[in-house]
Amino acid sequence: MTTPMVKAEGVHKSFGAAHILKGIDLEVAPREVFCLIGPSGSGKSTFLRCINHLEKINAGRLSVDGELVGYRQKGDKLYELRDSEVARQRRDIGMVFQRFNLFPHMTALENVMEAPVQVKGEAKAVARARAEKLLDRVGLADKAKNFPSQLSGGQQQRVAIARALAMEPKLMLFDEPTSALDPELVGDVLDVMRGLAEDGMTMIVVTHEMGFAREVGDALVFMDDGVVVESGHPRDVLTDPQHDRTKSFLSKVL
Ligand SMILES: Nc1ncnc2c1ncn2[C@@H]1O[C@H](COP(=O)(O)OP(=O)(O)O)[C@@H](O)[C@H]1O
Ligand SMILES: [Mg+2]
Repeated sequence: MTTPMVKAEGVHKSFGAAHILKGIDLEVAPREVFCLIGPSGSGKSTFLRCINHLEKINAGRLSVDGELVGYRQKGDKLYELRDSEVARQRRDIGMVFQRFNLFPHMTALENVMEAPVQVKGEAKAVARARAEKLLDRVGLADKAKNFPSQLSGGQQQRVAIARALAMEPKLMLFDEPTSALDPELVGDVLDVMRGLAEDGMTMIVVTHEMGFAREVGDALVFMDDGVVVESGHPRDVLTDPQHDRTKSFLSKVL
């Protein structure tokens, strides 16, 4: 038995009176590309934010690589981790959002170097060498000295992916990484993600790109209104959905 990279058991999350996640159960295996689809407002982003403890869950259990997110268990009691321990857990998880949020006053290279130097205290020469390699990997070796304003949205998103990889995460979370891009720029970003998948990165990908899910995904979950409605191999779920809610959603997006 390998330890799942992510394991959610009965995860609930509310904001005030609004019950958003209503008992999420799922498992993501190491090296798996796990796609999450569902209508707007179904709780996909909230779930990703719980995984790296940007949100605190209200009930259930959530673990990453065998460690509870935000808690330590002693006997049958749970103790909240200190901020520094939460920060350590978060370091192992890379997150890429719809909006890239690069530092506007830093070049692409400086953006990718920033976290290893500031957070891990890494030597600048080491961080620079890795950043150069990562920019090359996302196809932007020649843009290292450009500022974000001098890059297209797709190029900025690829810098954001390189920036997340610079921390050498064991898990990458993608929250609709291509939804803010012009259609002609989507392919390059998906190609980078496909490459990561081939290299064995564990990835959870919230996406509306059903082609990507079908070709690259190992597992797919359809979420609606805070519950997992249906899950399985992407090809099966996308071509032969079993639930009416899945059918209705797919008929709108496919
Ligand atoms: N910080 C917050 N405070 C209050 N409500 C929130 C907060 N974050 C998300 N929500 C609500 O949770 C629901 C699910 O949102 P979200 O997880 O962003 O869905 P999705 O990513 O599937 O579109 C929405 O109704 C949203 O308004
Ligand atoms: Mg969202």
